[in-house]
Amino acid sequence: MDASSTIEFRRRFGRDPLVRVRAPGRVNLLGEHTDYTGGLVLPLAIDLGLDALASPRADGVMGLEAPRMGKSARLRIDGVPPVHKEPWLNYILGVAAELWPHAGKTLERGFDLLIDGDLPAGAGLASSAAVTVGTAYALSALADLRIADIDLVRAAQRAEHRYVGVQCGIMDQAASALAVRDHVLFLDCRTLEMRSVPLAMRGLVAAVCHTGVQHSLRESGYNQRVAECAEALALLRRERPALGCLGELRPSDGTAARSILPETLARRVEHIVFENERVREATKCLDRGDLRAFGRLMFESHESLRDRYEVSCPELDALFEAARSQEDAVIGAKMTGAGFGGAVVCLVREERALAFQERLRGRAPTVALCRSADGARASLCTRRSP
Ligand code: GLA
Repeated sequence: MDASSTIEFRRRFGRDPLVRVRAPGRVNLLGEHTDYTGGLVLPLAIDLGLDALASPRADGVMGLEAPRMGKSARLRIDGVPPVHKEPWLNYILGVAAELWPHAGKTLERGFDLLIDGDLPAGAGLASSAAVTVGTAYALSALADLRIADIDLVRAAQRAEHRYVGVQCGIMDQAASALAVRDHVLFLDCRTLEMRSVPLAMRGLVAAVCHTGVQHSLRESGYNQRVAECAEALALLRRERPALGCLGELRPSDGTAARSILPETLARRVEHIVFENERVREATKCLDRGDLRAFGRLMFESHESLRDRYEVSCPELDALFEAARSQEDAVIGAKMTGAGFGGAVVCLVREERALAFQERLRGRAPTVALCRSADGARASLCTRRSP
């Protein structure tokens, strides 16, 4: 935990925080744009993250500070908070609203919350999830709730749906909350079955090459892709009424889908079907330690996101090609997260990482060398008074 967050809390609120949470960001190594279709994902939590520090108040006021965003607010809290006209507040208010049935009495007395850290926003590293997960864990600890991790994950996701207006899947919140260091999180978003698969990160770093093009899920084509998938599912169900979600489709269903769906929707579905296959194949590669084959699947994933799903952009594609050509250093590379800007993640050999960073520096505004991290945990900063 970064001590500077504690100092910042004291400076802004004039007292010590009671609880603190480090909610990591994530890179997604495979399984992109599959989570909201009940598909498979393979994210890795990274050592860039957000700190959520909180203390209770007794005057019915929420003190909210996000110094890195230059934001600050004091709001009265009378019952379940409504959606606010200031977008940044809705991540926090949405979580408070979701926890209200369990923690309303405590939250109504007021609290101070500071969100700080080194995770950039709009870079495809799941900063929104780090805010909602960090807030959920901090408020849950403050109210001494005994809510299961997966329910906090769901509350964080619903906050985005209901208060922020992004129909995101569950991958980012799950990764920020449940990941284990040196493992990728294999998650089946239909059943919520999950498994931590060891990724021998010793000898590897995740290089995050940021395009400098900020993306916003609210304003990008993200919700449009979610809607296209819903439309494709509705059309396919006319022929297969028992189909629960697109994540159930296998490659053998692909040709049938092509004959039913309009061309654009058919390409979207094709991406989803083969991306899920890539995740299946990738876990096998990790189990047998075949990182080269794993890397090839990352390259294929990027090409499919570019050509079939159309969520890349020229800046991402240029960085992807620049990274892929560094064969001595790079094992795999792809855009990570929603796309439409943001970053390319590259698995890079540690001994070549600095040279790689140097070579990419002229092309990417920032190249961050990241290691893996554990998911969020709340801890007490000071003893609770008895
Ligand atoms: C964003 C969303 C996730 C997921 C990715 C794309 O990060 O928050 O739920 O859909 O995009 O894989």
